[in-house]
Amino acid sequence: MIESNPATAMPDRSVVPAVWSRYTDLVVDRGEGSWLITVEGERYLDYSSGIGVTNTGHAHPRVVAAIQAQAARLLHGQQNIVYHEPGLRLHERLRHVLPGDDWQAFLANSGAEATEAAVKLARAATGRPAIVAFRGGFHGRTAQAMALTTSRVSIRGDFEPLPGSVYHAPYPYCYRAAGGPHDPGACTCDWEAQLEQLFAQVVVPSRVAAFVVEPVLGEGGYVVPPPTFLPRLREIASRHGILLVADEVQTGFGRTGELFAVTHTGVVPDILMVAKGIASGLPLGGIVARRDLLARWSPGAHGGTYGGNAVACAAANATLDVIQDLGLVQNARDRGAQLLDALAAVRGRFPRLGDLRGLGLMVGLEFVRPDEGDGRVPDPDLAKRVIGAALERHLIVLSAGTWGQVVRLIPPLVTTPREIDHAVAVLAESMEVAGA
Ligand SMILES: Cc1ncc(COP(=O)(O)O)c(C=O)c1O
Repeated sequence: MIESNPATAMPDRSVVPAVWSRYTDLVVDRGEGSWLITVEGERYLDYSSGIGVTNTGHAHPRVVAAIQAQAARLLHGQQNIVYHEPGLRLHERLRHVLPGDDWQAFLANSGAEATEAAVKLARAATGRPAIVAFRGGFHGRTAQAMALTTSRVSIRGDFEPLPGSVYHAPYPYCYRAAGGPHDPGACTCDWEAQLEQLFAQVVVPSRVAAFVVEPVLGEGGYVVPPPTFLPRLREIASRHGILLVADEVQTGFGRTGELFAVTHTGVVPDILMVAKGIASGLPLGGIVARRDLLARWSPGAHGGTYGGNAVACAAANATLDVIQDLGLVQNARDRGAQLLDALAAVRGRFPRLGDLRGLGLMVGLEFVRPDEGDGRVPDPDLAKRVIGAALERHLIVLSAGTWGQVVRLIPPLVTTPREIDHAVAVLAESMEVAGA
């Protein structure tokens, strides 16, 4: 039976398969700005942003109006068959998100598809087979994306064999460095020596098509690398003719206080991966790549039925307008500083809060057992209790990190100073009751 009768009771939640591991059992009716409202009318401050998607807040009126208007005109205009106005406008705008005007976008539907596109383009454009990704990175759930992903073994562990010629180098994770935790401003991580060792022992650099790297580790634990990391990686890439692919699926569109996180260090990648925040919740993702690289993809070498969907493109154009007109990149910077400062002010009360870090509105709290081992033993149970206590207080936050030991805060970029104050008060109370 496929009929649906809205007059009958809501189906039981068990209709959804358990593969969707869950943070909450909330059934939401609607969203407004930073808030989600359940079918019972309860309000929750959503500092998950649907995993970094609703940067303009839930149901921003300008985004909704653009979606409604486009839906009434054209839902689907397949890219091999026709052009449509929202798609042409978005392609044109994406040409200008990085310095210079030698850029072009390829549009698909998701972050994983952005990974697929980036890897296919890098291989086709360079004629080289190998890809180097970084430990702790997350790039999606398709086979190729899983092969690049090492944020935690549950993402990939049951799905071997995965596509080959993918190698992993260490990401500078200053809190978990072998030599001990240290300030990223004076980084002593040996990532570069280990990369050179990879080149000496495993794969020659002249066979490497691309480095695929997150400017801030997302699922891997909201790890902000030292400011020297990306510039140095850019140099190494250029020296060997390796393309630099920045996966900005989670960090993009203002999240870190710049439109893209690479801008913090002035690094220009060869390929930029985008998704999530680009369209405020409609499925859209893709790459922005150097024009000369995209020219090496022959017609038909890549594509897809829905890529660059007309309604999703209209949502993306409205999202970019809202980000610009409301100054949301600046707000991410200001509110991010407020959030980090306020958490730093209470940090001393919580001995199990091993590390507090962030960039813009991407903030992570790493929980540990200070009395065990070297004092950095991950404590995922504590992180879970903090998340649970916050949820009881109507604040939605998520976990991250290899062991789930990090609580990550991903507020929408429209969040207000009052909401930040409220969230910090709730988090402090949650850490207290959770025994942090
Ligand atoms: C950095 C990064 N890349 C890729 C992806 C995959 O995106 P999607 O879930 O849209 O396939 C994600 C999703 O969390 C991500 O954070």
